[in-house]
Amino acid sequence: SSSTPWWKTAAIYQIYPASFKDSNGDGIGDLPGIIGKLDYIQSLGVDAIWLCPMYDSPQHDMGYDISDYEAVYAPYGTVADVETLIAACHERGMRILLDLVINHTSDQHAWFKESRSSKTNPKRNWYIWRPARYDADGTRRPPNNWRSTFGGSAWEWDEETQEYYLHLFAVQQPDLNWELSETRVAIYESAVEFWLRKGIDGFRVDTVNMYSKPLDFPDAPVIDPTLDCQPAYSLYCNGPRIHEFLRELGHILQRYNAMTVGELPHTPRMADVLDYVSAKQKQLSMVFQFDLVDIGFGAGLRYDTSPRNWTLSDLRARVARTQALVDGSTDGWSTTFLENHDQARSVSRFGCDDAVTHPELWERSAKMLAMFVASLSGTLFVYQGQEIGMANAPADWDIEEEYKDLDSLNYYNYVKEHRRDDPGALARAKAALAHLARDHGRMPMQWDATPNAGFTTASAKPWMRVHDNYPTLNVKRQVHRPASVLAFWRELLRVRRANAAVFAEGVFADTDASNEAVFVFEKRAVQQKLVVALNFTADRQVVDLAASLGGTYKTLLKNYEEEPLDALQPYEGRIYLVQ
Ligand code: GLC
Ligand code: CA
Repeated sequence: SSSTPWWKTAAIYQIYPASFKDSNGDGIGDLPGIIGKLDYIQSLGVDAIWLCPMYDSPQHDMGYDISDYEAVYAPYGTVADVETLIAACHERGMRILLDLVINHTSDQHAWFKESRSSKTNPKRNWYIWRPARYDADGTRRPPNNWRSTFGGSAWEWDEETQEYYLHLFAVQQPDLNWELSETRVAIYESAVEFWLRKGIDGFRVDTVNMYSKPLDFPDAPVIDPTLDCQPAYSLYCNGPRIHEFLRELGHILQRYNAMTVGELPHTPRMADVLDYVSAKQKQLSMVFQFDLVDIGFGAGLRYDTSPRNWTLSDLRARVARTQALVDGSTDGWSTTFLENHDQARSVSRFGCDDAVTHPELWERSAKMLAMFVASLSGTLFVYQGQEIGMANAPADWDIEEEYKDLDSLNYYNYVKEHRRDDPGALARAKAALAHLARDHGRMPMQWDATPNAGFTTASAKPWMRVHDNYPTLNVKRQVHRPASVLAFWRELLRVRRANAAVFAEGVFADTDASNEAVFVFEKRAVQQKLVVALNFTADRQVVDLAASLGGTYKTLLKNYEEEPLDALQPYEGRIYLVQ
């Protein structure tokens, strides 16, 4: 209906600026590179783009450590380039979201430099400073036992002023103090309205549930006794004033009719999720929930796990739980996605990623996973490279040499230092990182078969190594081939749009929650029903689709020619429309 907001049935393409397209041969992607590829993006059939941080930054965390909200990282371009990009999107009928990172700044932001300069500086309390605790023997300790997301204590000692500051992420990412209205006003003005005034259509909101901390800063329960510091998500996520803060931010966003998608990790209770996205609450349009993509990670340290450490029954339970938010039973909204810049590639996690030696299985599984994510309800997000089935880095790449993410390297070094007496530990860490590291999603986009995959000039050194498989796996090889993964995504997005009521807003129902090989689910709308059948294994599986399909149906999408109702081939997927 006309009152439905544009974003509910939308597909949104996520761009990681460092790795999308380098226009000037310095090995780093940039804004002119993105502008030059907008026709390609539009040709996919997406409604909008989300651009990861392009702000000025010392790049300790790839731009999620912002030193100036109102400036652009020089290698990416200028504020004028962003203005050009906004206009170029709008000319093509696409919308554009920026990334809003306001839980923390860089330690090089002018606000933090002032804050750390003295205890009496007017901006001292714009960040979170606390005195040390001392043991009976005089040993200095941080205010509590919280672990930072990237390892080590969440508190950093400042020699100069003899206090600790809080950083839930890297040492170079001090947390802003949202308790002060003066700080919040400055954030809204600099990070939010500066860009809304330039005509952007909304924001992806980084770590949206962490702004309000429990001010008594209690110790976290011991989850992993081998760690000095403990994961404390349950204490600092969804804190006491978070919804007050987001309502306040919401007032500004509504003035610009801006759409928001909040990053909402560590929030297992759907009732808590709904507090953020309920239309009545006027806080966020939708959120990214991590139930699905968090599958297979360790409970203490995330990478303490082994490859393929997940089951299909667990995966489908996570899908069922999160789909319940978007089945029309609530006034909230959410997203469907399998990849982003913090995730390994989905073909490597859930399919076959060997595009060179098993091209057929790779291609089929990439299409099967595309059908999976696109037939779930919610706003669909597609991450750059996902549309051509890009894969994780080869498992034999040297981690210290080729991986760049501080999260991966911190974990690797931690295992190296602290688990010396466990002979298998380092090999396990390598295997886990080869499977799940954030680096895999950050490798250069593979445009063609020329050296450096057409991401940058042949003689340049890309900031991250290009995947070895680029001569086989690239946009150019897929763009005119009707059976390619890319062609499949275009068709899938067209079909999703044409049947949005059932694809994007239908009611999900699992048909056999304990099946560990084949995922058959239904989506219901008023007039129609989808039956989605997905083989998550590399073996042929016996099924009984006739029972689910009943009388009149047609096949909307499939990744094999033949379609017997009693079997699915390796990684086969089909979407049927039942009327
Ligand atoms: C979010 C971002 C991630 C970043 C972190 C800290 O999780 O997606 O890339 O490292 O926030 O800003
Ligand atoms: Ca460049």
